Amino acid sequence: MNRRDLAEIRARVCASLDGEVLEVGFGSGLNIPHYPSAVARVRAVDPATMGRKLAARRVAASRVPVEYVGLDGESLPAEPDSIDHVLVTWTLCTIPDVRRALSEIRRVLRPGGSLHFAEHGLSPDDRVARWQHRMTPLQRRMAGGCHLDRPIGQLVADSGLELVKLDNYYAEGPKITGYMFEGVAVKS
Ligand SMILES: C[S@@+](CC[C@H](N)C(=O)[O-])C[C@H]1O[C@@H](n2cnc3c(N)ncnc32)[C@H](O)[C@@H]1O
Repeated sequence: MNRRDLAEIRARVCASLDGEVLEVGFGSGLNIPHYPSAVARVRAVDPATMGRKLAARRVAASRVPVEYVGLDGESLPAEPDSIDHVLVTWTLCTIPDVRRALSEIRRVLRPGGSLHFAEHGLSPDDRVARWQHRMTPLQRRMAGGCHLDRPIGQLVADSGLELVKLDNYYAEGPKITGYMFEGVAVKS
């Protein structure tokens, strides 16, 4: 996850964040260097203790205060309408009940608040999609529950958030893991 090309994506996805941010799937904190100084505080949600260990040095060096607040994106420890932005990168592929997580994200965002995301998912190319479906059971076992074939754009749109920006493209590397959904969705 620490690739240079992914760092460029992280920089774009984080660029317009400010105020109170909740990051779902905080992992090893690779987005920390990209938080703008306009971010007041980041609340981190992630179940992985290993991720916390890997993140410790980045968290300690962060200009923006980071606080761990929860373990599961399906149940966010935040009041309704309380968060300016939710950030999620390469995590919606893994959360078991992704629709529930998106519903939680919508619940905690304030009206006008936005979800900023960069995720891999289902390709529109039939041949790639066939392999994504075929390989997902193995990928789930090998990569901590990661699905290759989630239609991320559709899932975000179905959550009731309004997609105001969505860029799709293949990132570097194999197409089955590299079809990207990078965007912003707003709560009305
Ligand atoms: C591929 S890693 C991405 C980590 C980080 N977002 C990044 O961009 O480097 C997927 C992350 O999702 C987290 N995760 C798995 N299940 C989760 C859940 N139910 N709620 C929140 N995060 C979860 C994992 O612990 C892991 O940190």
